[in-house]
Amino acid sequence: MSTGSPGAPALPLPGRFVTFEGIDGAGKSTHLDAVAARLRQRGGAEVVCTREPGGTALAERLREVVLAQPMDSLTEALLVFAARRDHTQRVIRPALERGATVLCDRYTDATFAYQGAGRGFDTAVLGRLADWVQQGLEPALTLWFDVPPAVAARRRAAARAADRFEREDDGFFERVAAGYRERAAGAPGRVVRIDADAPQGEVAARVAAVFEARGWW
Ligand code: TYD
Repeated sequence: MSTGSPGAPALPLPGRFVTFEGIDGAGKSTHLDAVAARLRQRGGAEVVCTREPGGTALAERLREVVLAQPMDSLTEALLVFAARRDHTQRVIRPALERGATVLCDRYTDATFAYQGAGRGFDTAVLGRLADWVQQGLEPALTLWFDVPPAVAARRRAAARAADRFEREDDGFFERVAAGYRERAAGAPGRVVRIDADAPQGEVAARVAAVFEARGWW
């Protein structure tokens, strides 16, 4: 069976695709906003901020279901990939084709960490789904905000009402954190670990250093 769909544009695309990852409470969303503000202030390429699951009307509806509704791990994996397919086709690819910088709050590393390591779903199947859905669309850079699960749990408790993932126990988040470590080890050129167990300003400086090192500020 062919897994390619017709008309997938040739890679690489002119834009820059950057993803932000980490366990719930790691602080990635705050830093995504700060990076976007700094890039926009500097001028230059269009900046598109988006998130997964989500980023389109359909994918946002799937997000609501995934975050609220009990389901088995295959259903969960298929829904996050369905959301990703719509998002890559309608938002991420077109933006990268225009030359935009796309800052995305979570992407496929989250699927390997949450559905793979967290839920114990077969990572070989996830890999096949990723190939099928993404057709080679990988981030140029992934910032992985690494914090001890106990620190993230304290931040979550202070911040907001818990969704279906955030209600999971400590063991789940230990496994998700280990899943991120494994993904980072497997893609050292793409994934940069940010030690996020520090005050926000210090973490922001670490993020800035990564962009500076690439000449992207
Ligand atoms: P999150 O990105 O942390 O948003 P918020 O900051 O609003 O809570 O929440 C999304 C949740 O979805 C998070 O718990 C991880 C989960 N998720 C998966 O399980 N698999 C995936 O592939 C993605 C993208 C997210």
